[in-house]
Amino acid sequence: MNILKKIYYRVFQGVIYLVFPFLGLRKPELLVGEGTVLEIPRLVREKDLGKPMIVTSKDLINLKLLDSLFAKLNEEKIPYYVYDEVAPNPTIAMIEAGVVKFNENNCTSLIAFGGGSPIDCAKGIGARIARPRKEVSKMKGILKIQKKLPPIIAVPTTAGTGSEATLATVITDEATHDKYPINDPNLVPKYAILDPVLTVGLPKGITSTTGMDALTHAVEAYIGKGNTKETKDMAIKTVQLVYDNLLTAYSEGNNIKARENMLLAAHYGGIAFTRAYVGYVHAIAHSLGGMYGIPHGLANAIILPYMLEYYGETIYKKLAELATVVGIVGISDQEKAERFIQWVKDMNATMKIPSKISEIKEEDIELMAKRALKEANPLYPVPKFMGMLEITQIYKKLMG
Ligand SMILES: NC(=O)c1ccc[n+]([C@@H]2O[C@H](COP(=O)([O-])OP(=O)(O)OC[C@H]3O[C@@H](n4cnc5c(N)ncnc54)[C@H](O)[C@@H]3O)[C@@H](O)[C@H]2O)c1
Ligand SMILES: [Fe+2]
Repeated sequence: MNILKKIYYRVFQGVIYLVFPFLGLRKPELLVGEGTVLEIPRLVREKDLGKPMIVTSKDLINLKLLDSLFAKLNEEKIPYYVYDEVAPNPTIAMIEAGVVKFNENNCTSLIAFGGGSPIDCAKGIGARIARPRKEVSKMKGILKIQKKLPPIIAVPTTAGTGSEATLATVITDEATHDKYPINDPNLVPKYAILDPVLTVGLPKGITSTTGMDALTHAVEAYIGKGNTKETKDMAIKTVQLVYDNLLTAYSEGNNIKARENMLLAAHYGGIAFTRAYVGYVHAIAHSLGGMYGIPHGLANAIILPYMLEYYGETIYKKLAELATVVGIVGISDQEKAERFIQWVKDMNATMKIPSKISEIKEEDIELMAKRALKEANPLYPVPKFMGMLEITQIYKKLMG
């Protein structure tokens, strides 16, 4: 890649890094533990949240995951409206339909209930309520909302995205199959409820891939050049929690402690990357999610080792630090880093996550590569830049 371009990217990232503390980034008020979902009615009343619209999916309703919340809201006579049209990889159409329902039903706040998809959809709805004249596609990128959203209570039912803590929402344009993040501090939910009871029924394949998403957030944040003391601490905590709990949550789904620790891992990972950003793993994963609907965590889990190998010696030191945190030893930084990458591969293999993405078609690579580069550059402070040539090679390796 052209040296002037690289300099421009680093200057851009440096400016964002410096202005970040002035953007008013908040953290959500947090409730953690078994049964905390039942605290929501109290929260709605105490914080004057009026009539919330619950944004979720039909699948989660059918799983009866919301029943206890509905019962408690009814018992407390709190009015609410349920919008359950969200599906994985939420689209602009889902947001727009939600905005109509929010307004028609005179709602005043949002309860985002589900995995990253319902939480992101709720954030999108909130953004469009705040900015009724700005289309979703015009919010792509960074700092395009700049207005307060209705208050959001985020209730994750997967342990991966950390969306309940982040300034991002990731939306798919159903017409173009472009999936892109919108980043704005106003997207950080006001409240987050981490109730492990909601995640005990997660199928193995979702526990594994969403858990690897949390790991990817932490690793991409940590190896990047946008860290602060806090993002490093958060990333380290995430890696440690994933190392200690993901396989337990995977093999003993009803282990409440492991489930709670994975929710915390996802949350801390979210805090880490909301300030330090993600990198090419996510940019490529989004392109694959938009083009083929590949689940986000699955894509990340598969891509992560390929990207870490591509970065090579530029990240040995950082990966060696993460390796040391979890007790992986070696005689040099290189050896520790390589063993850390091997651990990621072993985790995938143990949890039956494949190492290739068979959906990738040769003829789509150019468009996906362009989209991924557009998402990542200049915003993500990645350890080493890629151009078209390098990123195309990654897609080719992924397809096998
Ligand atoms: N905003 C952010 O900061 C951020 C960060 C990472 C990822 N994302 C986005 O989040 C989305 C992915 O979210 P996700 O990985 O949480 O998956 P998801 O929300 O798409 O859900 C995946 C599947 O899990 C099911 N599910 C969810 N909770 C369940 C439960 N408790 N029991 C049984 N089934 C359950 C859902 O019905 C769905 O079929 C992607 O669009 C991704 O791009 C956003
Ligand atoms: Fe992610």
